[in-house]
Amino acid sequence: MSYKENYKNWKDEPTKYWKEKSEDIYWYKKPKKVLDSSDSPFWSWFPDGVLNTCYNCLDIHVENGNGNRNALIYDSPVTKTKITYTYNELLNKTERIAGALQNHGVTKGDRVLIYMPMIPEAVASMLACARIGAIHVVVFGGFAPNELATRINDSKPKIIIAGSCGIEPGKIIEYKPMLDKAIEIANYKVKKCFIFQREICEAKLISGRDFNLQELIDNSDIAKPVPLKSTDPLYILYTSGTTGDPKGMVRDNGGHAVALKNSISMVYGLKPGEVFWAASDIGWVVGHSYIVYAPLLNGCTSILYEGKPTGTPDAGSFWRIISEYNVAVMFTAPTALRAIKRDDPNGVEINKYSLKNFRMQFLAGERADPTTIEWASKHLNVPVIDHWWQTETGWAIAGNFAGLGLFEIKPGSTGKASPGFDVQCLDENGKIKPIGEIGSLAIKLPLPPSCSSTLWQDKARYKKAYMEDYPGWYSSADAGYIDNEGYIWVMSRTDDIINCAGHRLSTGAMEEVLSKHEYIAECAVVGIEDELKGQIPMGFIVINAGTQESNEKIIQETISMVRNEIGPVASFRKVVVLKRLPKTRSGKILRSTIASIVDNKPYKIPATIDDASILDEIKEIIK
Ligand code: COA
Ligand code: AMP
Repeated sequence: MSYKENYKNWKDEPTKYWKEKSEDIYWYKKPKKVLDSSDSPFWSWFPDGVLNTCYNCLDIHVENGNGNRNALIYDSPVTKTKITYTYNELLNKTERIAGALQNHGVTKGDRVLIYMPMIPEAVASMLACARIGAIHVVVFGGFAPNELATRINDSKPKIIIAGSCGIEPGKIIEYKPMLDKAIEIANYKVKKCFIFQREICEAKLISGRDFNLQELIDNSDIAKPVPLKSTDPLYILYTSGTTGDPKGMVRDNGGHAVALKNSISMVYGLKPGEVFWAASDIGWVVGHSYIVYAPLLNGCTSILYEGKPTGTPDAGSFWRIISEYNVAVMFTAPTALRAIKRDDPNGVEINKYSLKNFRMQFLAGERADPTTIEWASKHLNVPVIDHWWQTETGWAIAGNFAGLGLFEIKPGSTGKASPGFDVQCLDENGKIKPIGEIGSLAIKLPLPPSCSSTLWQDKARYKKAYMEDYPGWYSSADAGYIDNEGYIWVMSRTDDIINCAGHRLSTGAMEEVLSKHEYIAECAVVGIEDELKGQIPMGFIVINAGTQESNEKIIQETISMVRNEIGPVASFRKVVVLKRLPKTRSGKILRSTIASIVDNKPYKIPATIDDASILDEIKEIIK
């Protein structure tokens, strides 16, 4: 079926469309109702259905005679390890971790926080939670203890599962001291931790609180999958909001399983048994959806890669993996390709490997610049497809659909709306903009299955953040336009979020950290362009009058503060001191004007500016 037909089928009869898709999932009790809109905008998909996501990811394939098929390939150049897990083996590890969780009192609805590097035990821990109805809360390893503590306080986990350490090129990141610090500073007191001891750096366990995960795996009984309501939460994933408080995105079981299983064949064109690789991290939504859930729901083989695009050991790592494991389709962030292009501009490394089974390269997480797409298309000789995503949606809002026959690729555009999403470009009054004009990209309600149904224990914030700007629409906080052929062009965020090396970060959260510095009177953090990372944060600080401390010392302290409180992943390294910040007469800081000046882009001086001379000062400093 073509994209056009598929999209029309959905648009004409959305309930019938999703009902059909739901039949690809195994339900203990099939849903009779497709969508419950009685508590709008908190819709429930397949509300009377009963299922288990882990069962659909693992047991079902084993029961269907595919237990010896590869489920997960762990390739870790940083530890020089390669291990392949069949569906039988991954199920075994998962059901034992699930058993250990149950032995320690975890039941349906309890939260389990997972703070782990890219190791198989992390994937099995997520699936183990899904198996017993515990809600997993994965926290990315690049976050500092303070961020971890914020997530502990909000999600109140019964148990934390952590690795003893992560490994970054050339350095070991000890997770355990960060975990201990986070538990110490969190108001909510975590009573138990399961620690996976990595040989390279074993952690000291706290007697009575910490348990060795491997010993638990070795000695636990297996846990059976627990039947869950479609609407029971599968996981919470925190993502950056405009303040220091991250948003706890809640994802259900039923809608998620249906949408993800559909997406792996419709968007990526994958058949059961084929190998899919999402070079992301399990700490991000792409890792949740496309390292763990979607490939396994579809009986595919997924790659878990603990390494970087370059430097582990070289710019050929991605191509080695594709060649070694017969990867059919890959997904990464444009920044990863830019890193490879920087080290290997002529694609010499690519030519060292046979990519004969490689069909397509997908990109998302940030704007894919046409130069990178063109470079990759030329050297990989496969379609390079940009698609638009958010943690909130869990799968592509727009793309080009391998399972529906690709349409023409327009580099710089994220393709057309996915069946399930009615995307429009709105003006400030919520009116649809003429074709080709930039505005706010919004999705007509209801959102399709898998989209976050609420924020963890904060319905009011969910409504305010997404539903109130344009009644009847979900506001994506992305700006862009739609062209005369229906292609969507996502250009920038409309809020304080930046995308740095594919990581979603809040500049507001960084400002909150800087404001704590005793000598800083006020500050602004803006996202500026960066050739490799797409965007990086840059701080502008105003120092209290009469401060004796040197500017240089204060700058270094602010850099350390952001690193220690948010994490190294914030990539906060650039700070300048100003006499005052440019503001409107009503006191609004002109952040986008500052960013345009730094990026050397044209900008309009707002009529309401309080004192335009400060803009010249910024220009001078930036030179
Ligand atoms: N645990 C601990 N620290 C981490 C980490 C993790 N999981 N991930 C990153 N960091 C650290 C890095 O070591 C680095 O620390 P440093 O300041 O001491 O050097 C810092 O955070 C910044 O990391 P990063 O932004 O990743 O920059 P980089 O220069 O190390 O690497 C890229 C640049 C482009 C190679 C890398 O960012 C990358 O592979 N990006 C793709 C991201 C991605 O796939 N995102 C998912 C979206 S689909
Ligand atoms: P995250 O929630 O971390 O997946 O980040 C979501 C944000 O990343 C979106 O709101 C966009 O700003 C940006 N983004 C994701 N994919 C794309 C894309 N293909 N093109 C442009 N921006 C993108």
